[in-house]
Amino acid sequence: MHESEPGPMPAAAPLSSRGRYGLCVAPMMDWTDRHCRYFHRLLSPHARLYTEMVTSAAVVHGDRQRLLGFDASEHPVALQLGGSEPAELAEAARVGEGFGYDEINLNVGCPSDRVQSGRFGACLMREPDLVAECFAAMRDAVSIPVTVKCRLGVDEQDPEADLDRFVDRVRAAGCTVFVVHARKAWLQGLSPKENRDIPPLDYARVYKLKKRLPGLTVVLNGGLDRVDDCLAGLAEVDGIMLGRTAYHEPYRLAELEHAVHGTPLPLREDVLEAMRPYVEAHLATGDRLQHVSRHILGLFQGLPGARAWRRHLSENAHAPGAGWSVVRQAVARMAAAGLGHAA
Ligand SMILES: Cc1cc2nc3c(=O)[nH]c(=O)nc-3n(C[C@H](O)[C@H](O)[C@H](O)COP(=O)(O)O)c2cc1C
Repeated sequence: MHESEPGPMPAAAPLSSRGRYGLCVAPMMDWTDRHCRYFHRLLSPHARLYTEMVTSAAVVHGDRQRLLGFDASEHPVALQLGGSEPAELAEAARVGEGFGYDEINLNVGCPSDRVQSGRFGACLMREPDLVAECFAAMRDAVSIPVTVKCRLGVDEQDPEADLDRFVDRVRAAGCTVFVVHARKAWLQGLSPKENRDIPPLDYARVYKLKKRLPGLTVVLNGGLDRVDDCLAGLAEVDGIMLGRTAYHEPYRLAELEHAVHGTPLPLREDVLEAMRPYVEAHLATGDRLQHVSRHILGLFQGLPGARAWRRHLSENAHAPGAGWSVVRQAVARMAAAGLGHAA
C-alpha cells in the first residue's frame, strides 16, 4: 500500500478508524460483475469492491472493454487477476491501471481444476518464489497497490510454517497487503464449492499472522456473516472481506457500513429506486433486465414476502422486453405476500 502506517490506536477510536482496509466485498466469478458492484456500492459507499477473477491472458488478448469496463461510482474497486506468467500479469496489471482500477489483486486462492491446469490460483501456495516474481513484475508495472489473496495453505501443507513461509517470501518482494481466506484448500478430492465450506475456518491463524507482522495489512475472509463477528474481526486485523453473505443478503453490507462508518441505514426501497436509472440505461443498450436483476434478488432477504419478490423477478426478468415494470410488479407481489404473512 502507498499509505503510511497508522500510529497506536487511541482507546476511544471510532470504529471507522479501525481496520484501515475496512470492509471489502470478495471477488466472485459470475457474481461480482459490474452490475453487482454498482448495486453493492449503493448499499455501502465505503466498501472496497473486487471484480470477478479475470485471467491475465484474457486481459491481454480479449475484449478489454467487456472484461474491464466499470462505472465511476464503483471506486474504490480492485481488479483481481489470475495467472502465473510474470510478464503477462505485468501487462494485464498495466491495462487494469489504465482502466482506472484502484488496486490489482492476484488470486492465490481459487482451487478449481481449470485454474490448476493453468498453474494459478490456490496451487500457487506451493510456489512462493513464483508468486514473488509475479508480484514484483506487476508492482514494477503500475503505481497502484498490488495485493495478494491467498489461503492458509493447500493439501498437506502446514498452515503454521507454510503460511509464514509464503507470506515472508512474497512480502520480501514488497507485498504489504494479504487477503487471507481463513481455511486451507484441498486440491485433490473437493470441488471448488466444497472447498469454500469443508476445510475448517481458522481465524486465529490469521490473527496470529497479523500479530507476528504488525506492519502488514491483513484482511480476513471466510464465513463472515454477522455484524458482530465482522466487528470482532476488524478489531484484530485491518479489514474484513465478505463473499457469499454480501451476495445473498446484500443489505448486510448497509448494516456493516452503518456499524463501521456510521452511514445512516438506507431504506431498501430507496436502494431499489436508485437502481432504476442504471437499469433503464442498461435496457436501452438492448441488454436484458435479468443480467442486472439477478444480483438484486437478495435485497429483501429475511423480510415477509421476500420469496414472492424473488420468484416474480426470476421468472419474468429474462423475457425479451422485460423492463422496470417487472421490478415494480415484484415489489407488489412481495407486499401482497407480506400482508398475507402478517394476517
Ligand atoms: C460463486 C463464487 C465465486 C468465487 N470466485 C472467486 C474468484 O474469482 N476469485 C477469488 O479469489 N475467490 C473467489 N471466490 C471465493 C471468495 O472470494 C471467498 O474467498 C469465499 O467465498 C469465502 O468467503 P465467504 O465465506 O464470505 O463467501 C468465489 C466464491 C464464490 C461463492
